[in-house]
Amino acid sequence: MNQTTTSQTDSYHQPVMVEEVTSLFAETTGLIVDATFGGGGHSRALLESNPRLLILGIDRDPDAMSLARAGIDDPRVHLVAANFGDLGKILAQEVPDGDFFGALFDLGVSSHQLDTADRGFSYHSSGPLDMRMGPDATHSAADIVNRWSADEIARILREYGEERFAWRIANAIVKGRPVVDTLQLASLVADAVPAAARRRKHPARRTFQAIRIAVNGELAALAAGLDAALNAVRPGGRVVVISYHSLEDRIVKRRFVAGATDCTCPPDLPVCVCDTAAELRLMTRKATRPGPVEIENNPRARSALLRAVEKVAS
Ligand SMILES: C[S@@+](CC[C@H](N)C(=O)[O-])C[C@H]1O[C@@H](n2cnc3c(N)ncnc32)[C@H](O)[C@@H]1O
Repeated sequence: MNQTTTSQTDSYHQPVMVEEVTSLFAETTGLIVDATFGGGGHSRALLESNPRLLILGIDRDPDAMSLARAGIDDPRVHLVAANFGDLGKILAQEVPDGDFFGALFDLGVSSHQLDTADRGFSYHSSGPLDMRMGPDATHSAADIVNRWSADEIARILREYGEERFAWRIANAIVKGRPVVDTLQLASLVADAVPAAARRRKHPARRTFQAIRIAVNGELAALAAGLDAALNAVRPGGRVVVISYHSLEDRIVKRRFVAGATDCTCPPDLPVCVCDTAAELRLMTRKATRPGPVEIENNPRARSALLRAVEKVAS
C-alpha cells in the first residue's frame, strides 16, 4: 500500500493489537483474508511486516471499500465488497485453487463509521436511526425502533445487549414514538433506566449495541464466516478474531474449543466411539487483551479480546 493510504487509514481507524496480529502471521506465506478490511490498518501492518503475504480484503460497507479502492495502489491487495457471512461463496469465487492460509476478523464497527453521524451508530451525536453497515441489511434501526412491538424490542435488548432494563427501555421507546434520531433514542433510554445505571457507562450503550447487531445480523454472519474460514484454511493456516463484547467472544470461543477437541462422545461413555480428531490447535488458551499502554493511546481498544487457532493437518 502506498503513503497516501497510510495517512488515510490512520485517521479512518486506529487498528488494535497490531503486534499480536502481525506476529501470528509472521511465518505465513500466501493469501490471507482480512474479512473486516475497514480502513486497511491491519492489512497495511501485515504487508509491511511480512512481504510474503497477499491480502483478500472484504468489507460489507461500500463506503469503506470505495475509500480503500481510491487509496490503495498495491498489487498484493484485492478488495471485495461483501458480507463475510458469505465467505464460503466468496472463497469459491475468488480463490478457486483453495490456496488460502489465514483469516483475520476484527469485528464491529470502525471509528470512521462511529464518527460519521449520519450512519446513526453513535449515541453521542445526532443522526438518523440507520445503523446499516451495508446495503445487504434488510431493515434499519428506525424500522426496529418505530415498528417492532415492545416484546420484540425487549427480546433483542436482552439477547444482543444483555440489558438488565430491557423491558423498561422497550416500553419507553414504544411510548416515545415516533423516535426520529439517535439523540432522541439515547435520551429515551437514559430516562428509562434507574439513576444508578446512568453513572458508569453511557446508559444507551447496550441498547445501541443490541439494535446494531439486530440490524446487521452480526452474530449469524460471525458464525457462518468463522465456519467457512476454518473449513477452507490450509493446514498450518491461522484464523484470528478480535471481538469487542462477550456475545461475539462466546461464539468464537465455543467454535474454537469445539474444533480443538478430539473426542466428542458423551462424557459417560467408557470408550470413544466417535473417532473425532481435533482439526484446530488453540494458539490462545484465554483471550488476549491489549496492554495498558495501547488502551491509554487508543481507548477503543479497551474491550478488545483476541483469540487465534491454527488448522492442524488432517
Ligand atoms: C473494527 S472495523 C475493522 C478495522 C480494520 N481492521 C482496520 O484496521 O481498519 C470493522 C469493519 O468490519 C466491517 N464489517 C463488520 N461486519 C462485517 C461483515 N459481516 N462482513 C464484512 N464486513 C464487516 C465493518 O464495516 C467495519 O468496516
